[in-house]
Amino acid sequence: MLTRPDVAVVGAGPVGLAIAWRCAVNGLRVVVHDPAPGSGASRVAAGMLAPVAEAYFGEHELTGLLAESAARWPRFAAELAEAAGTQFGYRTEGTLMVGLTGDDLAEARRLWSYQQGLGLPITPLRPSQLREREPALAPRVRGGAVAPGDHQVDPRRLVTALRAAAERAGATLVPGPVARLADVDARVTVVAAGCGAAALTGLPVRPVKGQVLRLRAPGRAAPDFRHVIRGYADGESVYLVPRADGEVVVGATVEERSDTAVTAGAVLRLLRAAVDLLPDLAEYDLVEAAAGLRPGTPDNAPILGPLPGHPGVLAATGHHRHGIVLTPVTADLITELVVTGQADPLLAPFTPERFTAASTEKERTWN
Ligand code: GLY
Repeated sequence: MLTRPDVAVVGAGPVGLAIAWRCAVNGLRVVVHDPAPGSGASRVAAGMLAPVAEAYFGEHELTGLLAESAARWPRFAAELAEAAGTQFGYRTEGTLMVGLTGDDLAEARRLWSYQQGLGLPITPLRPSQLREREPALAPRVRGGAVAPGDHQVDPRRLVTALRAAAERAGATLVPGPVARLADVDARVTVVAAGCGAAALTGLPVRPVKGQVLRLRAPGRAAPDFRHVIRGYADGESVYLVPRADGEVVVGATVEERSDTAVTAGAVLRLLRAAVDLLPDLAEYDLVEAAAGLRPGTPDNAPILGPLPGHPGVLAATGHHRHGIVLTPVTADLITELVVTGQADPLLAPFTPERFTAASTEKERTWN
C-alpha cells in the first residue's frame, strides 16, 4: 500500500479481522498486522455464543454486552456468509445446561435463578424433557435448563471467512509482528492483539490458560447430540460443542497460567466430565488436545475504546472467555468510532480509562 492507511489493525483474530472488514466496507484503507492470523485464542476456542450459559454472578454489565452482541449475531452471520462466500458452522439449536448429581444441579440452579433474575431467556427442564431433546444424555443426569438463544459457530472457519471478507473488501494483511505502537503508521491504530495488547499498550490484559479437547465421531458421522451442552459433573464444569462434521469440542480449564502445555490431569478431568454426561463420547476418537491463552482483564470484561495518552489508538482487547460472541458488537462499536468519531453509549463501561488512573478529560478525546 503506497499511501498511509486510514486504519491499522494489530491482530488478525476474529475481533481484529471483523473490525478490518467493517472498516474496509466503509471505504477506509485498512492494513492488518499479524505474523500468524487466527493462531491465538480463537484457534482453541469452542465458539459458544452464550450470553446465558456464560453469565456469572456480579458480571451484569458484561452480560448485557454479551446479550447485545448475541442479538447481532444472526445478521452478522448472514452478512459475513454473503461477503465471504463461505459458511462457518453457525448453528442455532440452543444450549442445554445440565447437572449430573443432586449437588451439581443445586449449584447450577443458583446460577440459573441469578440469570433468570437478569431477565435472560432460560427455561428449566425436567430430566424427561432433557432426554426428549437429547436422548444421548446419561440417564443419571438429574436435571437441566435450556437457553434457546445460546448458539455456536466454528471459530477456525470464522477466521477463514472473516479474512476472506476483509480481503475482498480491500483490507491488506501484513504478515509480520508489531513490537511497538510507534512502528505502526496509520491515522488510527486498533489494538486487537489479545494477550499481546499488554506489551503494546500497558493495559492490564493477562493470559488465562484454557485446555480444550477435540473428539471426532466414528466414521465422521454427525455427533449424536445437537445442542451445545453446558454441564456440571461431580463438581467439574465442562462444555460440549457438536459440529456437523463430527467434531465435538470439550472445554475448558480456566487456569491463571501463561504456558500452553497440555496436562494429563486436565485431559482426564475434561474427558471424565464429558463421558459422565454423554457416555457415547467414550467411543469417539480423541483427535486434538490443545491449550490457548484467553486475554483476561481485572473485571473479566473487554477493553474497548480510546487509549488514554495515545491519540488515534483504540483498544479492542481483553475479551477473555467471550471473544467469539463479542465479535459483532466489538466490530460495530469500534468501526463506528473510527468512521464517525462518535462513541456509542454501550462502550461506556468498557473503556480503557477504567484501568488508567492518570487519564484526563483531554485524553478522553481520542483524535
Ligand atoms: N467461552 C468459553 C471459555 O472461555 O472457555
